[in-house]
Amino acid sequence: MRHEQIEKSLNLMVVLIVVAISIGGLVEIIPLMFSSDATEPAENIEPYSALRLAGRDVYVREGCYNCHSQMIRPFRSETERYGPFTTAGETVYDRPFQFGSKRTGPDLARVGGRYSDEWQRLHLTDPRALVPESNMPGYPWLLENTVDPELITAKLKALRLLGDPYTDEQIAGAAAAVDGRSEMDALVAYLQELGTNRRDRR
Ligand code: HEC
Repeated sequence: MRHEQIEKSLNLMVVLIVVAISIGGLVEIIPLMFSSDATEPAENIEPYSALRLAGRDVYVREGCYNCHSQMIRPFRSETERYGPFTTAGETVYDRPFQFGSKRTGPDLARVGGRYSDEWQRLHLTDPRALVPESNMPGYPWLLENTVDPELITAKLKALRLLGDPYTDEQIAGAAAAVDGRSEMDALVAYLQELGTNRRDRR
């Protein structure tokens, strides 16, 4: 009887649907807010250094995420190929996160140290020089562009406001750390540390 009343009243139905969906959503979201696994940095995870942060911004600007994910899923086929699966605590300083869902190229979550700096530099300038069948575009302009030291200082300050534990020394030294460095230097520094926090990395 009551069920019939609800079914026949549009407003009541809408209100009850919203309540039901909200409870379902909150039950999933709220525990995560209190779970240290998701909110605290994992072992060996530190905020990005000034140069790596600049590199990360180049990565985002150039849209590398359109072809590369940074999330190794907990399946054997993934861990055999890329290494240990990604955990939430590894990505607490990633704003925005780079999980991605498109893999035209391989996952990059643990690419750090897999190749030499020189390989990365050449590959990013002209991928087909190293991998003839590659369909990745080249990014030769990164060799010419330099990182803006003032902008990086401002970014570190903004991230500290958001809660990233940068020290005064790190902020004071940020401009000098990137001064005269090319965007290529920054991007390679970023790539070379991806996933290197995991000692069990393959
Ligand atoms: C159109 C898709 C596409 C885009 C955009 C792209 N890549 Fe790639 N990338 C690939 C493909 C395909 C491969 C595998 C072939 C190769 O090594 O070139 C690859 C390989 C790589 C590798 C080697 C990974 C490994 O484990 O062997 C790195 C590192 C890499 N890309 C970095 C980048 C970065 C950084 C950017 C952005 C500046 C980028 N890619 C943009 C498609 C792309």
